[in-house]
Amino acid sequence: MKRLRSISVRRGPSHNVVSISSREQKGGRTAASLVPPNPSLEKLRAVAARCRACDLWKTGTQTVFGEGQASARVMFVGEQPGDREDLAGRPFVGPAGMLLDRALVQAGIDRDQVYVTNVVKHFKWVADERGKRRIHKKPSASEINACRPWLDAELAVVKPEVLVCLGATAAQSLLGRKFSVSRQRGELVHSELARYVLATVHPSSLLRMPDEKDRHAEFERFVDDLRKVAGLISSRGPSSTVTKLAS
Ligand code: URA
Ligand code: SF4
Repeated sequence: MKRLRSISVRRGPSHNVVSISSREQKGGRTAASLVPPNPSLEKLRAVAARCRACDLWKTGTQTVFGEGQASARVMFVGEQPGDREDLAGRPFVGPAGMLLDRALVQAGIDRDQVYVTNVVKHFKWVADERGKRRIHKKPSASEINACRPWLDAELAVVKPEVLVCLGATAAQSLLGRKFSVSRQRGELVHSELARYVLATVHPSSLLRMPDEKDRHAEFERFVDDLRKVAGLISSRGPSSTVTKLAS
């Protein structure tokens, strides 16, 4: 089985500290030293608001922490806040978030059961040529690494039964660099991060599709993946099997 780079978030704070410091040795500065022991989500949000563990705080408006109840059964992890999220200070409130909400309704997943967050908590952008628009830029490996302790802390508090990675950035940082969303979407993969872990496409990839018919078909596939998630938390239990990640 592939050894995941991620830490086990279920063994208490002392385990966390050891693993996070090895992360720090590998990849430079991280938010690890800011994470308080046994935090609540409110506490984490308050401390993360002052995070300067990578340079993205300089250009982002504010830290966009995850949102949802600590009792949520499903956690969705995206890449980073977008333009609208950066201004609102809340994840998944822009076009991609609205599409996700629509898909959740169609899949029959109650918004109260869901916690939404991102692997990186600040919006990374560059100005377009005319300096009018902020264009999303992919976070670097070191920024993802720096921000990871916040996600690990969210996982440790929420302990979701189902973890859903939205898009390649989330999937590869949580499930390994070889993970392919196009080949493995919707498949349950073995991971210590949650009982059930799967990845699907990022809702913003649907928004970028120029052809209306394609967009519609892809939206249906996205809803199908979310129906699988709905099945995992339904009283009937899952119908699919967990596959091990190839090494
Ligand atoms: N895209 C993301 O990955 N996250 C958000 O919060 C919004 C858009
Ligand atoms: Fe801290 Fe993450 Fe923001 Fe970087 S992106 S400053 S690590 S909260």
